[in-house]
Amino acid sequence: MSTQPQIQQPSGRLGVLLPGLGAVATTFIAGVAAVRRGLARPIGSLTQMGTIRLGKRTESRAPQVRDFVPLTAIDDLVCGGWDVFPEDCYQAATNAGVLEPALLEQVREDLEAVRPMAAVFDRNYVRKLDGPNTKKGKNKMELAEQLMQDIDEFRSRNKLDRLVMVWCGSTEIYLEPSAVHQSLESFETGLRENDPGIAPSMIYAYAALKSRVPYANGAPNLTVDIPALRALARELHVPVAGKDFKTGQTLMKTILAPGLRARLLGLNGWYSTNILGNRDGEVLDDPDSFKSKEVSKLSVLETILQPEQHPELYGDIDHVVRINYYPPRGDNKEGWDNIDIFGWLGYPMQIKVNFLCRDSILAAPIVLDLALLMDLAKRSDMHGVQEWLSFYFKSPMTAPGLYPEHNLFVQQTKLKNTLRWMMGEEQITHLGREYYEE
Ligand SMILES: NC(=O)c1ccc[n+]([C@@H]2O[C@H](COP(=O)([O-])OP(=O)(O)OC[C@H]3O[C@@H](n4cnc5c(N)ncnc54)[C@H](O)[C@@H]3O)[C@@H](O)[C@H]2O)c1
Repeated sequence: MSTQPQIQQPSGRLGVLLPGLGAVATTFIAGVAAVRRGLARPIGSLTQMGTIRLGKRTESRAPQVRDFVPLTAIDDLVCGGWDVFPEDCYQAATNAGVLEPALLEQVREDLEAVRPMAAVFDRNYVRKLDGPNTKKGKNKMELAEQLMQDIDEFRSRNKLDRLVMVWCGSTEIYLEPSAVHQSLESFETGLRENDPGIAPSMIYAYAALKSRVPYANGAPNLTVDIPALRALARELHVPVAGKDFKTGQTLMKTILAPGLRARLLGLNGWYSTNILGNRDGEVLDDPDSFKSKEVSKLSVLETILQPEQHPELYGDIDHVVRINYYPPRGDNKEGWDNIDIFGWLGYPMQIKVNFLCRDSILAAPIVLDLALLMDLAKRSDMHGVQEWLSFYFKSPMTAPGLYPEHNLFVQQTKLKNTLRWMMGEEQITHLGREYYEE
């Protein structure tokens, strides 16, 4: 691995810009306010509650992650963002219905202070949505320039030292990489000529990168996962990461599948179905938006199980994922998994998982960790795709030609070893040294 980075200290305040102030973003913002006021704990956040083992087990050194690496303190975060609906975050959080009204009342002032800037939005990319709080421009380049101006104004208005952007907007329709995405030059021409291959999320990402603001992608949209924007990120020394927050059913899948693989239990099929009734569910009711999600959700099993190494165990799997929009459930999703496995002498068995989860409760700590770790990466001059943050994504971005790592435990080791490397500590291999060391 290359030499340890020089890390700038996190002095001053960090702005967290969120395109999309819906269920996930408002649950994150309200949570940060509640933690700051001592009303609740940041459960699920590795940066706030995790520890990291250093050195040999006999040394008993396991500091808190936030004491080990220089992270921005939660008190120094300032949130802002854009949405197609003009309601402030108190109203948006109330509409989302994730958090109890009693908690929202206690952080009402913090939430009311976050009012959405006008969005770059186009219904062709999110068909089930429409709202009045949008920008107008002659072409997509002009819209990108307006976003850059928003970023500048937000920075100076709030006296910020640094910024990060985390996409929490709706899932856009499925797009394949095409000619306009292949180079920065073709992309910028496409922005000026309103190329339909450039989705709104890409305009935000372009504006962020041009403003040297790290960009993390919480949705399965292609966005920064194209050669043009990867090149821009490298050229301007900006970190990028994505795609699609790993929560709910996929989180469970990447916890369970490595166990089956480790014990060489075979798999015939994995049927996953969900009901959810929030706006995300409504957007995903459009087959083209669902296609983006489906591709993201389906990819995980193959790289964990490696059927090419074990065709007799994993060579013929039926993997099906369904999401059904069912309004009565709101944000409280229910997922069912039926897993058909086989063991010794081929005897079949079944596993059933019924996960009554809360999507935004699982996603909010990911937004927090990504904001803090992307800022850490930027201060360490780590730029381009941040694969060590795969831990947080359903469909991790990788260097070209490499397959993504989906196994949650390998992802965790990669993340923690990167932190150890950044701080000049020995990486932990879990090799049993007691067999050869005094
Ligand atoms: N909640 C989870 O567990 C989870 C997991 C993985 C990914 N995600 C993704 O995170 C995103 C947010 O999820 P959510 O549950 O908060 O959805 P949501 O529908 O509650 O919020 C999305 C918000 O984005 C806004 N929006 C859409 N297009 C926009 C644009 N171009 N500019 C600005 N705002 C825009 C919408 O108006 C809406 O308020 C979705 O893409 C979802 O697929 C969520």
